[in-house]
Amino acid sequence: MSKLNHIISIDQFLKQDLLDGVFNLADKFAKTDRKGSSSKPLKDKILASVFYEPSTRTRFSFESAMLRLGGSVISTESAGHFSSAIKGETIEDTIRIIGGYTDIIVLRHPEIGTAKRAASVSPVPVINAGDGAGEHPTQALLDLYTIKKELGNINDLTIAMVGDLRYGRTIHSLIRLLSITRGITLYLVAPKPLGLPMEYRPPPALSDMHIIEKEKLEDVVPYVDVLYVTRIQKERFSSAHLYRKVANSFMIDGEMLGKMQEHAIIMHPLPRVHEITSAVDDDPRAAYFRQARNGLYIRMALLQMLLEE
Ligand code: NCD
Repeated sequence: MSKLNHIISIDQFLKQDLLDGVFNLADKFAKTDRKGSSSKPLKDKILASVFYEPSTRTRFSFESAMLRLGGSVISTESAGHFSSAIKGETIEDTIRIIGGYTDIIVLRHPEIGTAKRAASVSPVPVINAGDGAGEHPTQALLDLYTIKKELGNINDLTIAMVGDLRYGRTIHSLIRLLSITRGITLYLVAPKPLGLPMEYRPPPALSDMHIIEKEKLEDVVPYVDVLYVTRIQKERFSSAHLYRKVANSFMIDGEMLGKMQEHAIIMHPLPRVHEITSAVDDDPRAAYFRQARNGLYIRMALLQMLLEE
């Protein structure tokens, strides 16, 4: 199997053997339901989580994954305020220093490309936990894993991606990852200013994906197997006025749910704001809390693959 050094872009996972390796290991952890391995394979390792942007799921699932594998964790939650960045230290220097104290670094940063810069100087593996509006590769892995687990299949599906396709890094990574599948019809449903940037479309040579842009959610909901909903990302807008214009573009409520197929699933990387009402949560098609839980198993698998000697 291909060796993983850093996890920077989802493009590193466009190899079936590597993906199978991650998913099989995640299945093993899911079966033992979070207990990890009794041998605690990472017991002498330390993970640093260095987050310059807010996070709940990503940071806690990485930290919990490390602890469940027997490792230890040190963390800075608001690195922009509480690390030496505030004194003007470059990310390169910060990473060199943290890499000298720890065995792996999980990094979230508001600027595109920071994880790559960090990896280029780091003495230990770096995992991109979101670089601004760029990528979020570990989220894409847990998303595809969730689709496979929920629907039993990753090919010949109709998927709609809804919301902020311009700034949504989970979308950017997941679309690239879907290029390893076959026979996907992908509906992109976004307000005009939040459409998917060209650079995140899979090159036609890589994929037979059929991409269709739609403005109305109602037009696609009855046909989808997967409805992947995202938050409109307030923090990426330069003006509050622009944000308000698109903020409430889509909403999944009980009525919308009534139009979906019985076997379909609703996914969301979370946090949600207004785009899915809580009335939807108890429906078995609401897969987003199961999806978040899968993040733990996927991250346990990735940490073990990166760190086990
Ligand atoms: C997402 C993120 O941070 O990109 N959340 C996550 O990691 N699960 C999505 C978001 O913030 O809207």
